[in-house]
Amino acid sequence: MAFAAKILGTGSAFPQRRLTNDELAHQIAAGGVETNDRWIRERTGIRERRITDTGNSAETNSSLGTQAARNALAMAKKSAADIDQIIYATCTPDTIIPSTACWLQQKLGADRAWAMDINAACSGFVYGVVTGEQFIKSGHARTVLVVGAEVLSQFVNWTDRTSCILFGDGAGAAVLERVSDDSPGRILSSHLLSNGSLNGLFLIPAGGSKLEVTPERFHQNLHKIQMNGREIFKVAVRTLVECATRVLEQNQMTVADLDWFVPHQANIRIIEAVADRLNYPMDRVLVNVDRFGNTSAATIPTVLDGALRDGRIEPGQTVLFDAFGAGLTAGSVLLRW
Ligand code: UT7
Repeated sequence: MAFAAKILGTGSAFPQRRLTNDELAHQIAAGGVETNDRWIRERTGIRERRITDTGNSAETNSSLGTQAARNALAMAKKSAADIDQIIYATCTPDTIIPSTACWLQQKLGADRAWAMDINAACSGFVYGVVTGEQFIKSGHARTVLVVGAEVLSQFVNWTDRTSCILFGDGAGAAVLERVSDDSPGRILSSHLLSNGSLNGLFLIPAGGSKLEVTPERFHQNLHKIQMNGREIFKVAVRTLVECATRVLEQNQMTVADLDWFVPHQANIRIIEAVADRLNYPMDRVLVNVDRFGNTSAATIPTVLDGALRDGRIEPGQTVLFDAFGAGLTAGSVLLRW
């Protein structure tokens, strides 16, 4: 029998601390950086974001991921012992070694699972879902936990006003389950792409094996995010439209067949530009960037989780995930709920 994968449950977790635009502006002004609530809202749609308390062990990347995973397992009516595979999408791991997937495995007690991290930056959750789906289709796994979680606040340069306003911390998770390939609810298809020649658009230069963090590089903030915002904006719109179009074409569908569009939450203006080019109504686009900012790999699972829990997404509906991120990485997943 041929297999397909279905998302059975989702979950989210965020740090407690809310940082509003006014507070952020006040905080970074002390370091000589000027911004204001109006500029941030008008240019990005962000009102506030969540920031981890580094002294609180419940707010590490893996702790937030574990909480999101527990919520997803509860919705899926599964236990940690059911999980065959853990795929943890993050570019802000607890530690470089071991993987954050292994930290989560220990916290969750998912003793039967094998666990690995993937780094596709903001596209990480989409890459994780597609990877998990392949293990399910090949018969190697029945139940896969995919987590997208980030603590970007640790990697933001708080003296760079063009980037520090954008990011927040959080975690989302999904439980994927094996179903037959004619199941009404299942992943229909996906499209992934990468373009490594755009690696300079969004980069943390130091801290990997290529460039050690020396005191001098530390003072130059080379261990923090560097970003070409204007260029990313243009590439993001183009790439998101391309990925959405490709995955719809693969299924002989158009946007008229879509019930919900779930784009990566980087900037409301990027989302509106993509919806406009696709000729898709904004009231069918799921958004949480206003409350959480850009949480990278966590944006799609958290916005999806919100819409499932408040009943907007219903069984039988057609949903499209669409992501882009550093790398450049990008990808889309079309599924029927
Ligand atoms: O997952 C990938 C992560 N990255 C992204 O998704 C970034 C995508 N890009 C963006 O979201 C937008 O390009 C930004 C929000 C980063 C910037 O918005 P923009 O509309 O492209 O602004 P801009 O860079 O063209 O800057 C316009 C003006 C400039 O001043 P001048 O040269 O016109 O005098 C900036 O210096 O706004 C100034 N500016 C700010 N002013 C107040 C830039 N950042 C700020 C700020 N507060 N935070």
